[in-house]
Amino acid sequence: MKDQFPVPVARVGIIGGGQLGRMLVAAAKRLGCTCVVLDPLPRCPAGQLAGRQIVATYDDADKVRELVEACDVTTFELEAIDTAVLKELANSGHRIRPTPDLLAIIQDKLTQKELLRDANIATAEFVGVDQISPEVFAEFGYPLVQKARRGGYDGRGVAILHAASDFDKHLPVPSYIERFVPAEKELAVLVARGDDGVSCCYPVVEMDFREGENVLDILLAPAEIDPSVAEAAQVLATRTIEAMQGVGVFGVELFLTADGELSVNEVAPRTHNSGHHTIEACITDQFEQHLRAVIGLPLGSTEQLSPAAMLNLLGDPDSQGHPVVSGLAAALSIPGVCVHLYGKDKTTPYRKMGHVTVLDRDIHAARDKAEQVRELITITGEEAS
Ligand SMILES: Nc1ncnc2c1ncn2[C@@H]1O[C@H](COP(=O)(O)OP(=O)(O)OP(=O)(O)O)[C@@H](O)[C@H]1O
Ligand SMILES: [Mg+2]
Repeated sequence: MKDQFPVPVARVGIIGGGQLGRMLVAAAKRLGCTCVVLDPLPRCPAGQLAGRQIVATYDDADKVRELVEACDVTTFELEAIDTAVLKELANSGHRIRPTPDLLAIIQDKLTQKELLRDANIATAEFVGVDQISPEVFAEFGYPLVQKARRGGYDGRGVAILHAASDFDKHLPVPSYIERFVPAEKELAVLVARGDDGVSCCYPVVEMDFREGENVLDILLAPAEIDPSVAEAAQVLATRTIEAMQGVGVFGVELFLTADGELSVNEVAPRTHNSGHHTIEACITDQFEQHLRAVIGLPLGSTEQLSPAAMLNLLGDPDSQGHPVVSGLAAALSIPGVCVHLYGKDKTTPYRKMGHVTVLDRDIHAARDKAEQVRELITITGEEAS
């Protein structure tokens, strides 16, 4: 491996300039890298930190080319990118990680599921639907979950239909249907893998979702599960990324049923909301780890040094506009509370505006403090929505 690096160590291109991109830029700067961010929103969260932003949509082929050509390696923080131009650039020798071929498979949830099935990775049984009709759904059987093939996030693009009488709630978009999994817990494992095939994973985390909302409520790291289940989850997640030959950090979302069965829900080909706590709680955080993998440096230790709880700070449901953060000082007066605000200049209902990680030697105390913070901090906009 080469071991002389004229500074900057690498020029890193990042497609997508939201919070994940912003935290990637922060890690890149620590490692002596420079970043260029591509995002349609001027002064986007990642662009503010990077100092250099190309303002363009993710499918603007000319601007994507400009970004890739200006960088040693290009990566992304979201899936909804036009992969045609990325494939062409990769074929002409530019380094893009994860690869555009893998991104293309993962960004279509149906082809992602087919890959999982073909690799014998446990995942809910599914079928693609060409024609959406009550008969097709009834034949598959309820309860079922319908998912949009493309463009879904934070639960948009997912419809849970318990019985035939729910058919009206279906999504009128290209989609597939899968078995409803009666999950006792939703878990996630971050897996990092390099070009050399060396991989490592982080301790399993547990994600709690609030009833009716699909946005993560409180995350517990490590998950409160039997050690043998935790190990099986790490093995399953690692097998998944090996089957994909993925390079970078990947978020593998898993279901755990009451009888201890694990299955893969979906894979994010990027850093993940379930890994924000790694910034304070682990030796190498997920953002630095992603950079190490995509640049081609050795992976770092994933050891977790303290239990942690994490919650997202969401925009108030009833207002929008320039954000006002209330309760910040009260939250910061609690020992172990680390607040991250993403620099978004406008809040909208439920928008992810920041997150809080709480460290405590006792995971239950960390969780209690996170719950206190949830009551203390509100992010409202100056206009009623
Ligand atoms: N087969 C299933 N059985 C039961 N619940 C499911 C199933 N698939 C999805 N869900 C529920 O819907 C949520 C969102 O599904 P999924 O993760 O596939 O969508 P998403 O929009 O990509 O979400 P996100 O961006 O939040 O990861 C899951 O976290 C889970 O709570
Ligand atoms: Mg998900």
